[in-house]
Amino acid sequence: MHSARPKVTLVLPMAFPISSEWRVLLNEKPSAFEGVSGAKHSPVRSGSCGRPPITIDIPAESACMSEPDYDKQVREALPELTRIQDEELRARVHTAWVDALDASGYDDVRDVPWWPPNRDVVGEQQHVKHVRDVTMIASRLADTLADCRDLSLDRDLILAGALGHDISKPLELSPDGVTEFGQLVPHPYAAVHILASAGLSAEVQHIALSHSPQTAVTPQNIEAHVVALADEAAIHALSVDAIGSIQTDLF
Ligand SMILES: [Fe+2]
Repeated sequence: MHSARPKVTLVLPMAFPISSEWRVLLNEKPSAFEGVSGAKHSPVRSGSCGRPPITIDIPAESACMSEPDYDKQVREALPELTRIQDEELRARVHTAWVDALDASGYDDVRDVPWWPPNRDVVGEQQHVKHVRDVTMIASRLADTLADCRDLSLDRDLILAGALGHDISKPLELSPDGVTEFGQLVPHPYAAVHILASAGLSAEVQHIALSHSPQTAVTPQNIEAHVVALADEAAIHALSVDAIGSIQTDLF
């Protein structure tokens, strides 16, 4: 797993019955725990078994942890999902995100980086924050276009496409770089696969496929153009914010 799970603290009360194996492990003497990495003990107190309470921090890899609640994480991290009017479309985008996280090495969606190779330029950036930036920019751009030109834009499609345009990044990115999968199936081809697997339409897949110059596919409708422009603007804003100018090779 990419993200560090917290240690689990096991407290053995004074009267806790211990087996012979535990007696060997704990050496049954309070002084035996002093200086042992990851183990602490309380001052000696008298008890029914003559042993003080013991607190042991179990390393993450040894701990039996509950599975991450990706459903909840996605709901909380991407509140813009609720703005998709079509219930089925909203559910499918949500499912696609859960599937992507489930297939990744991340326990927490907030730990997925935006693009580690750009860290030297823009610092530590959260993937979900970028996705929210793009979704909000695309949404407002669509509203403005509709006001200016009385256009009929599919706002649900724009929201679904913006929320899903980088959905492959949990699989493509480790905390420090691009995974082997990401190198073999570059962004955003994997996004198309994830979106299609969740039953999302060719129009939503097209937005993911055409938003990035890493493919030869260019936006073929106004909704895809809006998301591609929003993505570009969001990335440029990061660059300007970090170094005061636009660095064009970020993505
Ligand atoms: Fe993006």
